Amino acid sequence: MSGLITEAVSARLAMVGAVPRELDLYAGVGTDFYERLVGSDRAEIREMLALARQAEGPILDIAAGGGRLTIPLVRSGRDVTAIDLSDDMLSHLRRALPEESTVECIVADMRDFSLGRRYGLVVIGATSITLLDSDGRSRLYAAVRRHLAAGGVFAFTVAGGASAQSLAIPRDQEIGVPGPQGEEAYLFAQQMEEGGSARVVNWVRVADITAGAEVTVLTSRLHVLDHHILARELVDTGFAVPAISPVRTDSGVEILLLTTSWAGSPAAEDDGASD
Ligand SMILES: C[S@@+](CC[C@H](N)C(=O)[O-])C[C@H]1O[C@@H](n2cnc3c(N)ncnc32)[C@H](O)[C@@H]1O
Repeated sequence: MSGLITEAVSARLAMVGAVPRELDLYAGVGTDFYERLVGSDRAEIREMLALARQAEGPILDIAAGGGRLTIPLVRSGRDVTAIDLSDDMLSHLRRALPEESTVECIVADMRDFSLGRRYGLVVIGATSITLLDSDGRSRLYAAVRRHLAAGGVFAFTVAGGASAQSLAIPRDQEIGVPGPQGEEAYLFAQQMEEGGSARVVNWVRVADITAGAEVTVLTSRLHVLDHHILARELVDTGFAVPAISPVRTDSGVEILLLTTSWAGSPAAEDDGASD
C-alpha cells in the first residue's frame, strides 16, 4: 500500500492507467462526499437526545463533523459546543445551524483540547473514537475528564455484533451514494493493517476511473475496537464501568452506546478544564 491507497484501488486504477490523488475523507471535497454518505442517517440521535434530557448544563459534541448530532441537540434547546479537527467539516455544520442559534464551533483535536468550560454531557457519535490509536484514546479520556462537570456523563458509540466483525475483514465493493443528480456508484475498499488492528478505507467515484485520469481517492484510517477494550480502558482511566446499550438503526447496522461518568477522586476531577 502506498500512503493510504489500498491495493484494491491501486489495482483498479492501474488497469486503466489512471493514477490516484489521495485526499482525506474529512477535508475539502471529502466533506461534501461524507455529508452525502451519512447526512440522512438518523442513527444515534434518539439515544443522544435521551441522554441530553437527563443531563444538566451544556453539552460537548466531540468530532461533531457536519453536525448530524449537534443540530438535533441544538434544536432541543440545549447549549452545545461542537469541536472537530476539520474546519471544512465544521463549515457544513455552521451552514446547517438553525438561524439565531448560538453554537460554539471550535477547531480542536479530540486528543488535546482546553475549552475553559465543563459539560454535563460529552458525546462522540458515529464510532469516531475508532479514529484514535491507544495513545490518542488515553489523551482523549484525560481531556474529557477535565471537561466533565461533577456527575457529568460521557457517552460514545462503537460498532457491535456482525457490524464489528465486518470491520475486521478486507473487502472491496461498489456502493450507491446519493449524488447531486441521483445515486452515484462508488468503489469502497477496506484493507487491514497492523495485523488486523487497524483498517484503511478508500472511496472512489466509479465514473472518475477513466484511462490516464488522475482520480480522487478519499481515505481514512481507523482502529478495530470492540466495547470490551473500550470499557476496560475507561475503567483503567478512572471512569465507571460503562452501561452498554444497543442503538436502534433502520439500516441493520449494529451500534453500541457506552455511557459512563467519572468515578475517580473529586481531586482529580477538579484540575480545571483549561489546563
Ligand atoms: C465519522 S465523522 C463523525 C461526524 C459526526 N459526529 C457524525 O455523527 O456524523 C468523524 C469526524 O471526526 C473528525 N476528526 C477526525 N480526527 C479528529 C481529531 N483528532 N479530533 C477531532 N475531530 C477529529 C473528522 O474531521 C470528522 O468530522
